[in-house]
Amino acid sequence: MSEEKFTKRILCIGAGYVGGPTMAMIAAKCPKYKVTVVDINEDKINAWKSDELPIYEPGLLEVVKQARGRNLFFSTELEKNIKESEIIFVSVNTPTKTFGEGAGKSADLQYWEKCARDIRGSAESDKIIVEKSTLPVKTAIAMERILSENDKGLHFDIVSNPEFLAEGTAIRDLENPDRVLIGSKETESGLKARESIVEIFANWIPRDRLITSNLMSAELSKLVANSFLAQRISSINSISALCEKVDADVSEVAFAIGKDSRIGNRFLNASVGFGGSCFKKDILNLVYLCETFGLYEVAAYWESVVKMNDYQQNRFVQTINSALFNTVTNKRIALFGFAFKANTSDTRESPAFYVTKKLMEEKAHVVISDPKALKNAKMDLKGFNDLIEYEEDPYKAAHKSHAIAVLTEWDLYRELDYEKIYKEMEKPAFIFDGRNILDHQKLFEIGFNVYPIGKPHLIHFKEV
Ligand code: NAD
Ligand code: UDX
Repeated sequence: MSEEKFTKRILCIGAGYVGGPTMAMIAAKCPKYKVTVVDINEDKINAWKSDELPIYEPGLLEVVKQARGRNLFFSTELEKNIKESEIIFVSVNTPTKTFGEGAGKSADLQYWEKCARDIRGSAESDKIIVEKSTLPVKTAIAMERILSENDKGLHFDIVSNPEFLAEGTAIRDLENPDRVLIGSKETESGLKARESIVEIFANWIPRDRLITSNLMSAELSKLVANSFLAQRISSINSISALCEKVDADVSEVAFAIGKDSRIGNRFLNASVGFGGSCFKKDILNLVYLCETFGLYEVAAYWESVVKMNDYQQNRFVQTINSALFNTVTNKRIALFGFAFKANTSDTRESPAFYVTKKLMEEKAHVVISDPKALKNAKMDLKGFNDLIEYEEDPYKAAHKSHAIAVLTEWDLYRELDYEKIYKEMEKPAFIFDGRNILDHQKLFEIGFNVYPIGKPHLIHFKEV
């Protein structure tokens, strides 16, 4: 299609886990729009142009291939692309701040603000700026102030369109979302900008799932959605600790309570703890916001969700240590999975990182296995690499090990030949199922000592 035939020119700044898949979906669904994704990281952009995408996400390559070169483009050229786009999504990272005021809680907005200044510097026409990144409430107001301080007489409308995709299911979530949220100022031009964004998603999503609100509600809803989801996991994880004390089974409890339609059955899988780049960061962001407004009780309430998660991760390591007769030193321990969840290569805030670090402190011999995340694992554990083994094949990882810890719920771990694995392990052999995905009774019958989460331990000798 020639340039003139495109009815909208959309730019996205930030080609990461959100920018890449989101724009690929828009481009695939809307051939009449030109969609360009830019990033400062040249290697990443080159990877987006190849068949070795920079992230692993089921179905993503097919969607990218549908549109790439037709109406989907990847580039490092910021200035030119800012000039020629009417709508600019900003999807850069907004990690937790590690320095200065708000360190450890508030969001680091330096990348976002830099984008606003770059847009202001290069723009030659009015534009709609869309917040795709997750941001503290009222960021839009600050950005509007920065953008409107221009001497070119340009007008910028800010729209908040937070992203709700989950990694591993991003394509499904983008193609068929529960809802898309679009917030804007309720002025004439704000409402017009809002409608332009609604129009994009209306190309494939039913109108009743395109919900609109004011700017602050949209920004806040994103933080609240993630906090509620994480809260459910911390709630069931807290109950898993009690289940282990009273011989209840957390899966049975979750099933029973989840049958109540007011509670619902999703996000009730007890685990070694939640990971990922979003939950902890967004809850802490909410906590900081509450503290800023003097709402200390509200802040403490939400912070406890993160504390419970820390407790759960720590509890998992303590269980390993005490089951292995209070010493893991020099013991070979195979970790099945390093990604923060299945079907992604992402390891950000993965519980596996915490577990590895703790086991290393105890001088264990850790062997990490994962079908997609070994490259990221090696980067995360740069400092320890001489002491850690990386082995994609789980059979080899488990060979001669004293224990296996399942940390990611990859399907492949359900289907392994555990009799063969057991035969090749040191005895007594232990398995710690941090995701409750294995057949515990069968493993016990094979000879393993089995430690699920929130269920009775199945052990062949008296617990020490
Ligand atoms: P990411 O780190 O994968 O990607 C961000 C990209 O922005 C990086 O490639 C980085 O190089 C690029 N970047 C930073 N500054 C830039 C600049 N000035 N110009 C051009 N490129 C720049 O992050 P992500 O996981 O895609 O998250 C992005 C945002 O979306 C965050 O605010 C996050 O909270 C939010 N979010 C993430 C998810 C998720 O599942 N990962 C889901 C919903 C929302
Ligand atoms: C999350 C939100 O789900 C998504 O809407 C938002 O846009 C970004 O943050 P993500 O972090 O990619 O998505 O994955 P998610 O499926 O939410 O899982 C987060 C963590 O919680 C993972 O470590 C997962 O294993 C864990 N989890 C999830 C549990 O431990 N138990 C559950 O029942 C569900």
